[in-house]
Amino acid sequence: MTNESGTRGRPFKVVGLPGDGIGPEVYSAARRVLDVLGESRDLHIELDEQLIGGAAVDATGSPLPQQTIDACRAADAALLGAVGGPKWDGRPAEQRPELGLLRIRAEFGLFCNLRPIVTHPALHAFSPLRPERLRGVDLMIVRELTGGSYFGKKWRDDDQAEDVCRYTRPEVERVTRAAGRIARQRNRRITLVDKANVLETSRLWRAVAHRVIRDEFPDVTMENMYVDAASMHLLTRPADFDVLLTENLFGDILSDEASMLCGSMGLLPSASLNEERFGLYEPVHGSAPDIAGKGVANPYAMLLSVAMMLRHSLNRPGEAEALEQCIHACWADGLLTRDLLPDGLGTEDVTEAVCARLANAMALSA
Ligand code: IPM
Ligand code: MG
Repeated sequence: MTNESGTRGRPFKVVGLPGDGIGPEVYSAARRVLDVLGESRDLHIELDEQLIGGAAVDATGSPLPQQTIDACRAADAALLGAVGGPKWDGRPAEQRPELGLLRIRAEFGLFCNLRPIVTHPALHAFSPLRPERLRGVDLMIVRELTGGSYFGKKWRDDDQAEDVCRYTRPEVERVTRAAGRIARQRNRRITLVDKANVLETSRLWRAVAHRVIRDEFPDVTMENMYVDAASMHLLTRPADFDVLLTENLFGDILSDEASMLCGSMGLLPSASLNEERFGLYEPVHGSAPDIAGKGVANPYAMLLSVAMMLRHSLNRPGEAEALEQCIHACWADGLLTRDLLPDGLGTEDVTEAVCARLANAMALSA
């Protein structure tokens, strides 16, 4: 990819993966925002919509069809809504919608999962935590995404089952380097979260991660924290964290916990990156089948994921920041969906409010 991509040269290519449940609804919101950016800026994004998850199982029998993989290979980034739903619960392992997500992570080596947790004063009242605990919370979870028990050898018979948790030195090194680079753009403090009092993989992580930070990031500090203690400290003193680095399963669990600091899962974006700048961007929330099709899904997590895509894969930090600022302005104006307010707005109303502010901001800064 060159810096000319997306301008008058080659347009950016983004694969759109609406997926299941509320996925298509929040994906439409993302498309609207990209249209607004395309109209007001020299930013040309070609969206190539493809199948993943349950929708792909229904159409092709596979949760990640080859055509989707090929499209991603030719793209700068992919934007995913959500996968899964009760409709596919009884399916054999090979046809589970979640497998589409796990396969795309493995296929593209998306080892570095970023989940920023930022609380906004307008949303403090919606968190189960007291507002005084939320002040100043701004942490980045860096979750290793292609190793550990998610991808180790698995088997089961009637009496036993096993999920092997394996990590190699290069796997730990590369995600630690990613965390080190991120820490440098923040407050230069990493908390390595593990279970080194019990697990051998955690002891490898500690040895390798500390060596990388000491040798390559001497300006960054790294402290250790056991995962059980981390789950507690995320609730008692969340503002003390800067970058939280951890393995796949711990990161899965802690990121859902941390999302509650913000008030709703519907507010949390994520980026899953490989070494080549290709990224998969998706809201952390799932497909929420109970509210699918009702037009009430919270689009903010998806729109913040678009901002992450602009920043990390498309090299357009200016537009990323403008979009984030418009979203924060909407929060300050109380423009929220029903996961937060009983008489809240619908998905499209919130999206249009963001788009109106964005069009304005773009016109002012043109
Ligand atoms: C997530 C999700 C996935 C995971 C599921 C859907 C496989 O919970 O992205 O956090 O466990 O990684
Ligand atoms: Mg999860």
